[in-house]
Amino acid sequence: MFENKHVLVAGGTSGINLGIAMGFAKAGAKLSVFSRKQEKVDAAVAALSEAGPKAHGGIADVRQPEQVKDAIAAAVQAQGPIDVLVSGAAGNFLAPAVAMSPNAFGTVVGIDLNGTFHVLRYAFDHLTKPGACIINVSAPQAWIPMMAQAHVCAAKAGVDMLTKTLAMEWGPAGVRVNSLVPGPIDGTEGMARLLVDKSKKDALAKTVPLGRLGQVEDCADVALFLASDAARYVSGVVLPVDGGWSLAGATLAMGQMMGG
Ligand code: HXC
Repeated sequence: MFENKHVLVAGGTSGINLGIAMGFAKAGAKLSVFSRKQEKVDAAVAALSEAGPKAHGGIADVRQPEQVKDAIAAAVQAQGPIDVLVSGAAGNFLAPAVAMSPNAFGTVVGIDLNGTFHVLRYAFDHLTKPGACIINVSAPQAWIPMMAQAHVCAAKAGVDMLTKTLAMEWGPAGVRVNSLVPGPIDGTEGMARLLVDKSKKDALAKTVPLGRLGQVEDCADVALFLASDAARYVSGVVLPVDGGWSLAGATLAMGQMMGG
């Protein structure tokens, strides 16, 4: 379905982002990924190239605009104009606001929000126009205030507003921009960091209206839908992939995750 399409996933070397990249690779797309650590890039490129066409990997910290610009240019050189751009680099730790230094707060805002801007800003000139699709990977914290997550809440709210603003600015060029919002996804670094009391995993799953934790494939399938022609008239949406969790169980779930 995505044969000869170039899908660039910023931060696509682990977790949900790698799962999304794998979904596109299996659907025939040419992948590019970049992140901070060479060994993670090498492992991701090997796995993606086994699942689909030869993938390209680069090194960049999304907080560094010049690194992002160069990594995107190298990806375009290797794989051609970008048909689908997934921006998913993120950072997280549990900390009350009073325990955070300005640098701690700024680090997460720098990765999640500024990083998203850098990726989208420098990819824009290389997007297939009309027709390109951008997917920002956000989080329920964007609209659900959560304890010990002030940095993430602020950053992800900004990401979703970038999604909506750029859907308006870039729509006339034929570029769609949407946010995909993973809920509690099993086996991810986000869950490992936030689910402090691992014995509460089953209890957390019970707070999901659909009765289970998500899988990375649940996110990948929705990313494929958003990038497909079936979603050609969908832009500026913030789409939870969470089994209904953000409607019904988030407050309770966070209490459990933090051992309360
Ligand atoms: C208070 C902390 C802290 C903590 C770090 N800091 N951890 N402050 N409590 N637990 C502070 C440091 O002291 C420092 O401030 C500043 O943050 C930067 O820390 P560094 O370690 O120097 O930064 P860096 O090496 O760049 O690492 C960035 C990071 C790290 C965000 C801190 O955790 C990281 O690399 N994360 C990437 C992977 C990740 O987090 N994935 C999960 C994403 S899940 P000072 O003032 O001391 O210099 C997600 C959504 C989940 O985003 C949604 C689930 C529903």
